[in-house]
Amino acid sequence: MKPVKIGILGLGTVGGGVVNVLQRNASEIARRAGRGIQVTHASVRNLSKKRLCSTAGIVLSERPMDVVNNSDLEIVVELIGGTTRARELVLKAIANGKHVVTANKALIALHGNEIFEEAQKQGVIVAFEAAVAGGIPIIKAIREGLSGNRINWLAGIINGTTNFILTEMREKGREFNDVLKEAQALGYAEADPTFDVEGIDAAHKLTILTAIAFGVPLNFDAAYTEGITKIDREDVQYAEQFGYRIKHLGFARCSSKGVEIRVHPTLIPQSRLIANVNGVMNAVVVNGDAVGSTLFYGAGAGSEPTASSVVSDLVDVVRSLTVDPENRVPHLAFQPDAIHQKSKFLAIEEIETGFYLRMKANDQTGVLAKIATILSEAGISIDAVSQKPPMVENAKQNTIAILTHRVQEQQMNLAIKRIENLPEIIGKLTRIRVENLI
Ligand code: HSE
Repeated sequence: MKPVKIGILGLGTVGGGVVNVLQRNASEIARRAGRGIQVTHASVRNLSKKRLCSTAGIVLSERPMDVVNNSDLEIVVELIGGTTRARELVLKAIANGKHVVTANKALIALHGNEIFEEAQKQGVIVAFEAAVAGGIPIIKAIREGLSGNRINWLAGIINGTTNFILTEMREKGREFNDVLKEAQALGYAEADPTFDVEGIDAAHKLTILTAIAFGVPLNFDAAYTEGITKIDREDVQYAEQFGYRIKHLGFARCSSKGVEIRVHPTLIPQSRLIANVNGVMNAVVVNGDAVGSTLFYGAGAGSEPTASSVVSDLVDVVRSLTVDPENRVPHLAFQPDAIHQKSKFLAIEEIETGFYLRMKANDQTGVLAKIATILSEAGISIDAVSQKPPMVENAKQNTIAILTHRVQEQQMNLAIKRIENLPEIIGKLTRIRVENLI
């Protein structure tokens, strides 16, 4: 059988990796897919730029629309990132009857509902394994491997850059900005690294995971997003002292109250496997009613790990070319007419978590008692307290760190306001949510 011809939009870090993996493993891939997969066309921004891969046998163009409109190609791989041009190109490829493979998490999180509807109408596949957690086949695991379960919740370290920064801060005491620069140099960070450190990239990925886990529409606007820029080394040390580790975690749950989607720094017990996922590695825990908790671990970014997912999507698409569109695995795991369009998404104030609080207080008699009274009046139960003496001898301030049991965020907001109004408290409280993941 003739090989399937594909075009790639973007031959950067991931595109170069895809070409290399397809070339290196060509015979293995053909044995699995039933046909060879041949990259015949690619678009690049700059024709004279040095590439990670050989471009022998590939027609290069600076016009991505030429690739999308090329009638010889059956599959278009979108690896240019961004959402405006990428959306236009993907919709055009679909309109042209081509299958699409993309690693673009922002595109799927923001425009996936529209893209899948168009793909459905045209009977084509849009595959997006590489959009979440790099090389970990988490989309396939949830969509197919766990399809017998009612998924209760999932939690993931799904941004390699922030995990790398937090790991270096904890293990080597390095400064935030210094580690971020290194993550950029290593090619982990997004083109705009605020997407990483402010949690937007993780929220895109979590939006996708939430939709396929619970059968709800993609709803990026419902995601609560908080980055890691306010994490202090002092918090990292207190967390250790309490037996926890701070991770930038994406968490989604579906309960009778509604669907929660949130990304924020989180204290996790050190004993959990996911608390020990370090550096650029990603991991996702999925808790299903039949299987219990499952953990998926692997490289969350980088050229060939991401290419691994893109190529596995290509193999899936090639295998499905002869399958009646009605009988393919649905894009969002649930049949399109079975997605709960009217699901309630919870605001962060409605969500319950444990809390870590850190504050600076004047070293006066009775401060701790006043704080404990405020928490108790708000119905908040204290789990642990630590008070450090002033760093400088005879200084009149000390730091208090408190862990609480679970409480609704809005109750905690009121208590924090009252604590901050105490005359002995200096400045604002630091709050980090706590999840025990059981
Ligand atoms: N900037 C992303 C990360 C790349 O650090 O995880 C992979 O999506």
